[in-house]
Amino acid sequence: MDENKPISRRNFFGVSAAATAALAVGGNIQSVFSKETACPYKAPPINGQFPDDFWWGAATAAYQVEGAANEDGRAPSIWDTFSHTPGKVVNGDTGDISCDQYHRYESDIKLMAELGIKHYRFSISWPRIIPQGRGKVNDKGMDYYKRLVDTLLKHDITPHATLYHWDLPQVLQDKYKGWESREAVKDFGDYATAVVKNLGDKVGHWMTLNEISTFTYNCYGVNQRTAHAPGINLNSKKEFYQVVHNALLAHGTACQAIRAASPRKSFVSVAENYESYVPVFETPETIEAAKKAFMREEKNGGIIIPILTGKYDEGWLQDVGANAPTILSGDMNIIGQPLDELGFNCYMGNYVRAADNAKGYEVLPFFPKYPRGNTNWLSIVPESIYWGVRLVSEAVGATKLPIFISENGCADGSVMNSNGEVLDIDRIMYYRNYLTHLHRSVTEGYPMKGYIPWSLMDNFEWQQGYSQRFGMVHVDYATQKRTPKLSYQWYKEVIKNNRVM
Ligand code: NOJ
Repeated sequence: MDENKPISRRNFFGVSAAATAALAVGGNIQSVFSKETACPYKAPPINGQFPDDFWWGAATAAYQVEGAANEDGRAPSIWDTFSHTPGKVVNGDTGDISCDQYHRYESDIKLMAELGIKHYRFSISWPRIIPQGRGKVNDKGMDYYKRLVDTLLKHDITPHATLYHWDLPQVLQDKYKGWESREAVKDFGDYATAVVKNLGDKVGHWMTLNEISTFTYNCYGVNQRTAHAPGINLNSKKEFYQVVHNALLAHGTACQAIRAASPRKSFVSVAENYESYVPVFETPETIEAAKKAFMREEKNGGIIIPILTGKYDEGWLQDVGANAPTILSGDMNIIGQPLDELGFNCYMGNYVRAADNAKGYEVLPFFPKYPRGNTNWLSIVPESIYWGVRLVSEAVGATKLPIFISENGCADGSVMNSNGEVLDIDRIMYYRNYLTHLHRSVTEGYPMKGYIPWSLMDNFEWQQGYSQRFGMVHVDYATQKRTPKLSYQWYKEVIKNNRVM
């Protein structure tokens, strides 16, 4: 870039991200332009471009888009039961029909191809594949995913499959209380084996579980109501951490199962919405505080840290004390199976500062009117995407582990106008800001492989039903008509130009 030329609108984001990057690594703006940074990674040219092989994709999940809840031998999942229970989901919505992708996958894939994505993240429905939770495989269910994958490949779109996106077969909940039992670990491993044996010749990228922290923290309360299926009230924190421990074991067991069953080189990962900690000022002591918080705080120290290191964080163990899960011999080895890549579901983050207390940091509270857009739980923290990547390298030490964004998004607040358009400028603002900070991680040479935002299309948003729309494609649920929103057009430009637009 010619430093003497005025900065065009198109270049602005690349420059501002790069400038922030230089400040972060203790340099100054001049050092960015001379490409000198203190960062240990080799910095690619700073020109706003993503690498040529950067993945651009989009994500969905089975219960949220497929519909066909009672077809071809599929049995109910805990979400079918939950959504059919009055009062659990807004407007009594269910995933019975949803976006009907089970029948409309071909035209949905055309929309993907038109958008230009080369990566599609979807999930496989356990109760479609093994309706009884364990035992016999339902060939008709498997055939659906074979058709889906073949059609993706025909359009030159790489499939990324998640094995568990929250739709546990109801029968296993009834039989042994689902994730409260270690029996679920074995059954999940067997299900993973069945799927990979059947699809592993065509699918190379596998995510074991989606957001362990959400499907434990949102589903199992201790003396409190929970918003997600199966909505269980436990008696103690100890029981709760045991549920999380079982989910971690299921992850590790599935990693082993995928590798054993795959007929080709597989890329094994987990899609986790681990917490990102943003140093409120980028000074060395605040960055140190962010690293400490990243390792120790509730949802990280007990989930992503054991996954990445094979150990619960020491500080986290101190914090949970006698409530820590019972760990059997060999468990941590299973949990800490090496990953080929890591999926980061990034929606929000936390600001941190250094503090003169035993932990050495303080997580700053969000005030009621902090910017949240149309998603009440989502505090908008664009820097979290960068720090979530950098801290895996710097706090955990996993400097070589490739990371990709497996989700990122927000519900828009726009409605279709009289011209039939959805002008979701709030989503464009959100994506652009997060992508700008993601680009910074690329600029600084962190192993960032790609961006797979949530979501391709509006879909069943769990306890919010169809009342919240996270898609780049609008879905009219009465007619199943798809209408690409303005964000779809924006993302198409991003992909075409391989840069933040
Ligand atoms: C994360 C979950 O994986 C996905 O299923 C959900 O729809 C989005 N967050 C938005 O809430």
